[in-house]
Amino acid sequence: MSPLFFLINQQLLFILVISFLSLAAVGDEHQFVYSGFTGVNLTLDGVAFVRPNGLLELTNGTARLKGHAFHPTPFSFSKTPNGTAPSFAVRFVFAIYCIQTDICGHGTTFIVAARNNFSDAMPTQYLGLINDHNNGNTTNHFFAVELDTNLNDEFKDIDNNHVGVDVNGLISVNSSSAGYYNDKSGNFNNLTLASYKAMQVWVEYDGDSTQINVTLAPLNMAKPLKPLLSAAYNLSEVLTDNVYVGFSASTGSFFSRQYVLGWSFGMNMPALPIDTAKLPKLPHEGPRPQSKVLEIILPIATAAFVIIVATIIILLVRKRLRYAEVREDWEVEFGPHRFLYKDLFRATKGFNNKNLLGVGGFGRVYRGVLPDSKLEVAVKRISHDSKQGIKEFVAEVVSIGRVQHRNFVQLYGYCRRKGELILVYEYMPNGSLDKYLYDREKPTLCWEQRSHIIKGVASGLLYLHEEWDKVILHRDIKPSNVLLDDEMNGRIGDFGLARLYDHGVDPQTTHVVGTIGYLAPEMAHTNKATPLTDVFSFGMFVLEVICGRKPIERTAQDNELMLVDWVLDFWQRFTHRCSG
Ligand SMILES: Nc1ncnc2c1ncn2[C@@H]1O[C@H](COP(=O)(O)OP(=O)(O)OP(=O)(O)O)[C@@H](O)[C@H]1O
Ligand SMILES: *[C@@H]1O[C@H](CO)[C@@H](O)[C@H](O)[C@H]1NC(C)=O
Ligand SMILES: *[C@@H]1O[C@H](CO)[C@@H](O)[C@H](O)[C@H]1NC(C)=O
Ligand SMILES: *[C@@H]1O[C@H](CO)[C@@H](O)[C@H](O)[C@H]1NC(C)=O
Ligand SMILES: *[C@@H]1O[C@H](CO)[C@@H](O)[C@H](O)[C@H]1NC(C)=O
Ligand SMILES: *[C@@H]1O[C@H](CO)[C@@H](O)[C@H](O)[C@H]1NC(C)=O
Ligand SMILES: *[C@@H]1O[C@H](CO)[C@@H](O)[C@H](O)[C@H]1NC(C)=O
Ligand SMILES: *[C@@H]1O[C@H](CO)[C@@H](O)[C@H](O)[C@H]1NC(C)=O
Ligand SMILES: *[C@@H]1O[C@H](CO)[C@@H](O)[C@H](O)[C@H]1NC(C)=O
Ligand SMILES: *[C@@H]1O[C@H](CO)[C@@H](O)[C@H](O)[C@H]1NC(C)=O
Repeated sequence: MSPLFFLINQQLLFILVISFLSLAAVGDEHQFVYSGFTGVNLTLDGVAFVRPNGLLELTNGTARLKGHAFHPTPFSFSKTPNGTAPSFAVRFVFAIYCIQTDICGHGTTFIVAARNNFSDAMPTQYLGLINDHNNGNTTNHFFAVELDTNLNDEFKDIDNNHVGVDVNGLISVNSSSAGYYNDKSGNFNNLTLASYKAMQVWVEYDGDSTQINVTLAPLNMAKPLKPLLSAAYNLSEVLTDNVYVGFSASTGSFFSRQYVLGWSFGMNMPALPIDTAKLPKLPHEGPRPQSKVLEIILPIATAAFVIIVATIIILLVRKRLRYAEVREDWEVEFGPHRFLYKDLFRATKGFNNKNLLGVGGFGRVYRGVLPDSKLEVAVKRISHDSKQGIKEFVAEVVSIGRVQHRNFVQLYGYCRRKGELILVYEYMPNGSLDKYLYDREKPTLCWEQRSHIIKGVASGLLYLHEEWDKVILHRDIKPSNVLLDDEMNGRIGDFGLARLYDHGVDPQTTHVVGTIGYLAPEMAHTNKATPLTDVFSFGMFVLEVICGRKPIERTAQDNELMLVDWVLDFWQRFTHRCSG
């Protein structure tokens, strides 16, 4: 045997010893941390699977199923060569989704067991850990921490939201309602396991003292100082050499899904912290329908809301249409004379028939009170279809509006809508003169009143023809256009309205403006209004007021009686008598 060979042999032995020692160390001490399970080698069975985002889904919502997930390699649970009893520490983050937190099932457990094959275990209340005949059997060789969302009398559960320490069976060594103790106050804070909020669990076992501590807290909260529950149990009597660590979960009749987001483990070593920022996201679950009532009320409320909104929109649109006006650029200068249709609509109570004063050749006239000024007005709606001439007419309306005379019906202003012109006049409480002449209901006017009215109209007409800045023609003097104020003064109204129809017609056609009977004879061939034609109409008006007869009257024999002829006849007889 050469010294060289001996040397090599010695080296070989040394290497063998070193590698044996390091293997032993790996068996006794181990550590891993998973913040999400993407690419992690887990041994899965049942419905358990790892979602693409790294979320470990132990159960998938289908009723009465179980799922398991184990770390693939086992750890040794025997004493170290120097006699130290095995200890371990675990952290994990879990979440449970249930339709309703109080009707939920069944639970998730963390397991340390002598095997990783739980194919003989049953779902539902057995939590995928035991079956209906091996509860508590010492051959089970497992330690578990249960997060139980169901109350089961068979296993002496304390409530339907508890944490328990289990050995070989589901009758817990110690258990507590889910929650944590506040570090400062020491008060107990409830937590709901099935709230679908991620929570962290710490499980610590000290082999020398055989003490087990379990602590629960919301995610992102530091580990509370006081454990939720403790138990003393010598796990060296339950677990022997090889132990597998992992999770189990089961569903019952109620829909639930159980998830593990992250996991950290240390054998004879502390469990490293889980990086909560790297944890996979929980899938979005629709809001739980709180109750049947809400399920019914919600659609009704939604429908009602939609209907209300639609109604409001329709009302607003209708209101806009109802109060829609036509306003053009050239009207800016007439702004102060312009009324809002909305105000006129309100003033006349929506152009109510009760407010109707009369219907004339141009349209309807309504009585109204302006909302702001409380001024009494007469509102005349004139429909017109030609756009032509409206500009000139509005200009004239505004210029006439500037005229103020005591025998003149003041024109306050106008408003325009599609195909419609609205004029706003001073209100005349006694209406038009024609009613006093022909209506039997009205009192007969005495001579003083008649002469006062005629004088007033004459004064007004003179003012317009000769005393105002420019000559204003009326074109339609007649008793129905003479209105009476509260003192029975005659006032000329309806100024220039005839012009509206004068414009916008074909100049070729002979369109006569005014009223038959009041038209001066020369109008027939000139069709040109002058102050003189107004004076002719005024003359006819004087005769009419004195006689109380229309310019052209139909007699009983169906003859036409001309007022002028009739008066002339009397006048000739009178003068004849005088001369004779
Ligand atoms: N400012 C007013 N104040 C009070 N009542 C008025 C006023 N203007 C008009 N009315 C009433 O409204 C009725 C209709 O007036 P309107 O001037 O439209 O018709 P008209 O004079 O009878 O005929 P035309 O349109 O041919 O002139 C009048 O008979 C009168 O009773
Ligand atoms: C859950 O898994 C079982 C078995 O793989 C399958 O039959 C079932 O359809 C799954 N349920 C859902 C909701 O995915
Ligand atoms: C996962 O672990 C098992 C058991 O140790 C092993 O057989 C398998 O090869 C591992 N798979 C991967 C991808 O590491
Ligand atoms: C026992 O050995 C382990 C390593 O295997 C060491 O960490 C521990 O401190 C030792 N304990 C004692 C009491 O020597
Ligand atoms: C688990 O154990 C059962 C018997 O209890 C056996 O039939 C099955 O093959 C085992 N599964 C694995 C993956 O070893
Ligand atoms: C425990 O399980 C073993 C093996 O399955 C069985 O032989 C034994 O009778 C069981 N003991 C009890 C008390 O059920
Ligand atoms: C906490 O839960 C327990 C048991 O469910 C209950 O008696 C107690 O009132 C709860 N406390 C609070 C503050 O909700
Ligand atoms: C369990 O908690 C108690 C009280 O906080 C503590 O004294 C003990 O060391 C803990 N045991 C383990 C194994 O962490
Ligand atoms: C159960 O745990 C609580 C809280 O840690 C503890 O006060 C109690 O003594 C424990 N009971 C048993 C039987 O270990
Ligand atoms: C725990 O059990 C093992 C095996 O029976 C024993 O060697 C050990 O002394 C026990 N530990 C305590 C603290 O009783």
